[in-house]
Amino acid sequence: MCGIIGYVGNKEVVPVLINGLRKLEYRGYDSAGITVLNKNKLILHRCAGKLINLEQELQKFLIRGKIGLGHTRWATHGKPTRENAHPHTDCKGNFVVVHNGIIENYLTLRKKLVKEGHKFNSDTDTEVIAHLIEKYFKGDLLKATQRAVKDLKGSYALGVISTLYPGKIVAARHGSPLIVGISEKENFIASDVSAILAYTKKVISLEDGETAILDFKGVKFFNSCDREIHKNSRTIEWDPMMAEKGGYKHFMLKEICEQADVVRDTLRGRICLEKGGVFLEEEIGWKKEEIDEISRIFIVACGTSYHSGLIGKYVLEDFAKIPCEVDLASEFRYRNPLLRKGDLVVVVTQSGETADTLAALREAKKKKVKTLAICNVMDSSIAQECDYVVYTRCGLEVGVASTKAFMGQLVVLYLLGLYFAKFRKSLSILRIKQIISALLELPVKIEKTIEMQDIIRDYAHRFFRKSDFLYLGRNVNYPIALEGALKLKEIAYIHAEGYAAGEMKHGPIALIDENMPILVIANQGKVYDKILSNIKEVKARDGIVIVLATKGDRKIAKEVEDVFYLPKTLEILTPFLNVIPLQFLAYYIALKRGCDVDQPRNLAKSVTVE
Ligand code: AGP
Repeated sequence: MCGIIGYVGNKEVVPVLINGLRKLEYRGYDSAGITVLNKNKLILHRCAGKLINLEQELQKFLIRGKIGLGHTRWATHGKPTRENAHPHTDCKGNFVVVHNGIIENYLTLRKKLVKEGHKFNSDTDTEVIAHLIEKYFKGDLLKATQRAVKDLKGSYALGVISTLYPGKIVAARHGSPLIVGISEKENFIASDVSAILAYTKKVISLEDGETAILDFKGVKFFNSCDREIHKNSRTIEWDPMMAEKGGYKHFMLKEICEQADVVRDTLRGRICLEKGGVFLEEEIGWKKEEIDEISRIFIVACGTSYHSGLIGKYVLEDFAKIPCEVDLASEFRYRNPLLRKGDLVVVVTQSGETADTLAALREAKKKKVKTLAICNVMDSSIAQECDYVVYTRCGLEVGVASTKAFMGQLVVLYLLGLYFAKFRKSLSILRIKQIISALLELPVKIEKTIEMQDIIRDYAHRFFRKSDFLYLGRNVNYPIALEGALKLKEIAYIHAEGYAAGEMKHGPIALIDENMPILVIANQGKVYDKILSNIKEVKARDGIVIVLATKGDRKIAKEVEDVFYLPKTLEILTPFLNVIPLQFLAYYIALKRGCDVDQPRNLAKSVTVE
């Protein structure tokens, strides 16, 4: 939810912290702050609002120092004010903490600390950590922090520095992501790699319960029993440019346009037309008996990932003939799901940090069923806790509105269906090869669809002032109608509803009038005639109809003026293409309405609180 960064080394620290915070702003941007240790003097600056406010304040000072911490916040406890902005200190300003996560027992801890004479300056949960460290400090900052976190219940990724322990940063992690960046004569901590990619590609992820202490010479790691351990580093392939906009106006536009490569990369090495099969042995490697044993699949996710999960149901039931249920993670974790041996729980998540999805996963693990994550962030909390992970290979998704990650999730869900089908012989080899061939042709068709974005931009310019939209789809494209509506809601702040087209006559049709644009997904296929009759119903009520149709469809033009023709593919693969014009529509309407496309109001990229 928040973004933290820390640096110790041979550079002036302020520019490093600010650059890092710029990259982390998508995690939350209610307020921001930095702290610098200069010899034994602690300098602290915090501002409410976006990072730019802090940058403007810092211009009034000459702040020198080679060690410091930075934080950008998405408020969870305490309003997004300057007083509640991180970093937070203890009573005397000797200990400074930046924190991402939620301390569930902070009120109890705060009461106890106040009784012991501690003075608090904020309403945040984080501040109790600084006072706990002050309480337990007996000359060793690492030990004091290791002792303090033992009192905490909830989630935290921490950076700590102290005037009484110069030149060192202590880090601790439980339930919120935290990485350590390693380089020559300088070391870093950060919430994710984007903050430090400009300086180093060599990173180590802290796991739950682990702590670390860094100085400019090196890093030491400790397990949850505070015993020193060795951890291997990994090299991040994402170059700094990747985290930049690469010449696009917004991250979201860049990421929409990267979707062909996402399909290519996520398929790479996992699919072979000649052999007529999908190969996930590296990630899964189950024996035939294990796959035959799967009697039910539960797909669990939030938001856009939930929508890809809904498509997963159609695909897995069609390909693998395994009954599938799809749950919102926030519902699944509280409905006491009747899981039993033979069930497989698949959690779908871009960030791998969504609190509801993580909690749903833990609920599944408690019931001892096999768990598999479809995730985009290596070593993220969910990736670490699942029995198996199949990674989407989308690279960094910065735009808060998820686009390319959705595409990557679809690829993995189709691969999973084909992988199971291979073992369960639930599809003929011929059909498997037909689907594989169509999957391999998708990237070019996605690029062709992206090239037609100007048509969608024209629609956006015509309809951006409308206040209500309806999205209709059937069968495997019903979830695409939901996803298209979500995109418009979250970045253009327009009320939009996705609906199963067949459901319209059961209520929503009452909404339709000459002011309402209705997006209808009408690919040629088994539900085409039904969709055509829905289109007629809408037109009979003067609704403004925009149709996504299949290139070469001669019939549709007789019914509707505004038709966006998509390249032809197998009906079961049409979601990959249909979602793209809907992403563009939301993007260009948001642009026309002057919305902040990459950082929509009230939203954060990774929702790590309930
Ligand atoms: C997607 O556009 C939204 N920003 C949001 O619904 C997101 O899909 C949801 O929060 C789940 O995130 P995850 O995939 O990282 O778990």
